Amino acid sequence: MADDTSIDLMGGGFTRGELAELEQQMILDAFSRHVEDVVYRVNDGKEATVYLCRTVPGEVDAPFVAAKVYRDRRFRGFANNAQYTDTSRIGDRRLAKAVRKGTRTGRKASQQMWVDREWQALNRLRQAGACVPQPYDHAPSAVLMAFLGDDAGPAPMLSQVRLSAAEAATAYGLLLDEIAIMLDCGLVHGDLSAFNILYHQGRPWIIDLPQVVSVDEAVDGWSLFHRDLVNLAGYFEHQGLTLDPTGDAIDLWGRYVG
Ligand SMILES: Nc1ncnc2c1ncn2[C@@H]1O[C@H](COP(=O)(O)OP(=O)(O)OP(=O)(O)O)[C@@H](O)[C@H]1O
Ligand SMILES: [Mg+2]
Repeated sequence: MADDTSIDLMGGGFTRGELAELEQQMILDAFSRHVEDVVYRVNDGKEATVYLCRTVPGEVDAPFVAAKVYRDRRFRGFANNAQYTDTSRIGDRRLAKAVRKGTRTGRKASQQMWVDREWQALNRLRQAGACVPQPYDHAPSAVLMAFLGDDAGPAPMLSQVRLSAAEAATAYGLLLDEIAIMLDCGLVHGDLSAFNILYHQGRPWIIDLPQVVSVDEAVDGWSLFHRDLVNLAGYFEHQGLTLDPTGDAIDLWGRYVG
């Protein structure tokens, strides 16, 4: 991780194209050990932009990886950052105040905290055997991870996929297993829905973890957890399943958190 490669996007005033150029240069500088070339922009995000990158031969066990570049909170859609960010956990009191007040220093620190959270969550969950992208590297405003997709393009979001009732039942069961692994690691996703799950190689993969909360943090983990299961059930009920997300949430929470 090289601090001198971070680009300050805080000033604003960039066109979409200029921003993309800056982001692509930042990827090439920060991840030069792994990335040879930025191929294309996968999504056109408000909160983060994901780029497909070609890897340096022999450095990574795949020809392509995904680089997720975070925006300054000014560009971000998460209005209610406070729900996830417990500033009392920031050791430096002046920095905690800066984060709460949203000063320039605070915004930069806050952006980096989100990157660190996603990086740490991906590592922890991969180690625990969860179906999340393999993380490779991180920089102050970006995470490099396995690309979920194939030659035809990125895997679709679950929200774009129509499943038969049997496929939906299988996918929902697999997701409950993934959620159990997360709880066993002491983690709640916090923004789980069919938009943050990719359907890849015939099964669901959970992505987008910067807002992950630990169950013993001072925020209300149960409410976020319950909301995650209700959001997930919304999609699966449209695919023909009859579900009891509150019952499933109580059951899982009781088993892993108590
Ligand atoms: N590892 C990956 N492989 C392939 N595609 C990915 C990967 N990670 C993210 N994507 C694509 O990029 C999109 C945005 O990623 P993610 O959900 O992590 O960020 P976000 O903060 O929600 O961004 P947005 O501003 O688009 O909401 C995903 O919906 C998915 O289509
Ligand atoms: Mg997302």
